[in-house]
Amino acid sequence: MHVDPLEKIWIGVIILLTAVMLGSIFYTAFAGSVHPPSNVEVIDSTALHLTDEFAEDNLGVRENPDGSVTVTMVATRYGFHPQHVEVPARTPVTFRFATPDVLHGLHIPTTNVDTMVVPGYVSEVNTELQSTGTFPMYCNEYCGVGHHSMWSRVTIVPKQG
Ligand code: CUA
Repeated sequence: MHVDPLEKIWIGVIILLTAVMLGSIFYTAFAGSVHPPSNVEVIDSTALHLTDEFAEDNLGVRENPDGSVTVTMVATRYGFHPQHVEVPARTPVTFRFATPDVLHGLHIPTTNVDTMVVPGYVSEVNTELQSTGTFPMYCNEYCGVGHHSMWSRVTIVPKQG
């Protein structure tokens, strides 16, 4: 079979490109620990209500002994629970999210809070919010017919003292 020399060159180029791309995927996955966007903490999504942290009564804002704040929320079709959280400005805040159903995303405009919430994982975002006011928290991953109505409110209040 005759293969044109130019064609041989391009076959080589394509094999090389494929090897470089696959190689970089495997390199970042294994050497760089590139995983779903979170602190790589697994959770049984089907039993969130049985966990200490994500049981309905324990959701919301919690102040830690060191003055930082932890906000625990569940993202579910179609809403974030709780519906409204209040956090202090200029204070280290850790948002922790889990979902009992499908993939969701969340984004608080004007802040750097933006992550996916993947079933089976706890998504954690560490931030320090600057401007005060009430902001929406939107789901930004298509999760079903009610996706557009999936949102909560975050009120950032001035830091006490
Ligand atoms: Cu949840 Cu879109």
